[in-house]
Amino acid sequence: MLNIAVFVSGRGSNLKSVYDKVPKNKINVSAVVSDRTDCIALDFARINNIPIFLVSNKKQPDFVDYVFLKEKFIELKIDLILLAGFLKKIPDEFVDYFENKIINIHPALLPSFGGKGMYGINVHREVFNSHVKESGATVHFVDKIYDNGKIIFQKKIDISDTQSPEEIASRLLTIEHEILPFVIEKFADNKIKIENDKVVILD
Ligand code: GRF
Repeated sequence: MLNIAVFVSGRGSNLKSVYDKVPKNKINVSAVVSDRTDCIALDFARINNIPIFLVSNKKQPDFVDYVFLKEKFIELKIDLILLAGFLKKIPDEFVDYFENKIINIHPALLPSFGGKGMYGINVHREVFNSHVKESGATVHFVDKIYDNGKIIFQKKIDISDTQSPEEIASRLLTIEHEILPFVIEKFADNKIKIENDKVVILD
């Protein structure tokens, strides 16, 4: 059983797709973490009785800090941390401690269209304005630099007939909901390895 913690800042459709699509005997969503008190993803966590942690770098009532979160994750025996639409940068010490245990989903074909400020519709706007014929989604390990860690899995789609950034976003969301549960299940089956600094996915 893979214990996962999912970080969210918004709608939480990727959280839902992982929760619904990965077989229940393979993963346990042990925590949902957010930097916002009011995001839709938290409603999903509440309905499904998943413990919620609000996290902030600054001292705020009802929020924990990353030192607390680290200890909590050790106690909960978290195996994998998933950033699914989480908009804040994770502190370096936290990333160091959980090296190769934090993954992110990005709605473009990294290393293109990534980096600081490249989230949500901003990504799709840049993609649309650059007139590329293909885009895609990327699941990658998180390191200290935005959207820079080792790529685990990508899927490309044809976007040559799309009319707007919103249309690209919507098409890609379907792809995200396909590849993220696939990757999480591979982690649960222990089929994702790092060999010579490259990610290998076993059948
Ligand atoms: C997704 O497009 C994801 O790739 C990006 O943020 C969006 C989150 O959507 N990192 P949701 O909150 O999972 O619906």
